[in-house]
Amino acid sequence: MAEVGNGVHGPGTVYLNGEFVPYSEAKVPAEDRGYLFGDGIYEVVRFYAGQPFGWEEHMDRWERSAAGIRLELPWRREDLLQIARELQRRNGLESAPLADFYLQATRGAAPRSHAFPAGVRPSLFALLREGQAHPEAERQEGVAVITVPDERWGRCDLKTLNLLPNVLAKQRAKDAGAYEALLVRSGGYVSEGSSSNVFAIIHGAVVTPPLQNILPGITRLTVLNIARRLRLPVYERPLTVGEILRAESAFLTGTTTEILPIRTLDGEAVGEGRRSPVLDQLQKEFAQVTGAGGGDTLCRTERI
Ligand SMILES: Cc1ncc(COP(=O)(O)O)c(C=O)c1O
Repeated sequence: MAEVGNGVHGPGTVYLNGEFVPYSEAKVPAEDRGYLFGDGIYEVVRFYAGQPFGWEEHMDRWERSAAGIRLELPWRREDLLQIARELQRRNGLESAPLADFYLQATRGAAPRSHAFPAGVRPSLFALLREGQAHPEAERQEGVAVITVPDERWGRCDLKTLNLLPNVLAKQRAKDAGAYEALLVRSGGYVSEGSSSNVFAIIHGAVVTPPLQNILPGITRLTVLNIARRLRLPVYERPLTVGEILRAESAFLTGTTTEILPIRTLDGEAVGEGRRSPVLDQLQKEFAQVTGAGGGDTLCRTERI
C-alpha cells in the first residue's frame, strides 16, 4: 500500500459522500466549511479483532457533538456502522487485531460566509486504518509529558474539528521530546491532554478531573467503569499538577492511546518511578474488556 505521508501507509479505499473511492481520489471542494472554518465534528473508534469497541458510546458522543454545533445529521448509526464494515471488507481489515475508524462530518461546501448556509447537505468522510499498539516498553514504563496552558474555548466537551490549540500543544510536547502535553487551567488544575484524558492513582484511589469543559473520553468512561467494578475508590474531582507529580502513578487514556502511564512530568519523575499495582490491574482489565470477542459490556454500564 502506498505511503501517504508522515511515514503512514494506505488506506486503500476510503468513504466520501456516498462513495467508496481510492484514497488518492477522495477530494473535497475548496470551500468545504470543515476546511474554511473547522465547522464540523469527528469521532475515532478502535476495532479490536474486527469488532468496534464502545460503538454506542461513540455514537452517543457523535450525536451530542452534532447537536452542540447545530448540525443535523442525515445518517443513522446503522448507516455509519455499515460504512465501517464496508471499509473493513474493502481494505482487508475484517479481522485485523487493531483498526482505527475515523469519521468526520462537516456543514458542507458553500460560498464562504460565517452563518450557516441554507439547503446544503453535510459532508461525510470516513477511513479505516490499521491501528498501532504502543510499544510494550512505553505501556510498562510510561511516557514523558509536559504542561502547557489550556487556551481552548468553552465547549471542549464537543468533539469538533477546531483543534488548533490541541495541535499547538502537541507540537510543543514533540519539540520537548515528550509524548503529550497536559493542558493546565488557572490554579494549576489539569484538564486533560491535547488528545487524551488524564488520571492519577492517589492513596490507591483512581482520580480524574470532572467533566467540566473537557472531552468525555470513552476510554475515560471505560476506566471509571472498570475501577468501580473492581471496587476501587474513584473520584472525579479537580486534579493539580502537583498531585500528579506526587501520585503513586499517573496515566493518559484515549481510544488509540489506551492506558499509557506518565513517566515524567516537565522532566520530573512521577510516583518516584514506581508503578502502582492499581495501574497494573486497570491495564490488565482494559485489555480484557477490549480483547478479541468485543466484550465491551463494562463500557455499557454507564453512558456519558
Ligand atoms: C482532547 C481529548 N481528550 C480526550 C480524548 C480521549 O477520548 P477517547 O477516549 O474517547 O478517545 C481525546 C481523544 O482524541 C481528545 O482529543
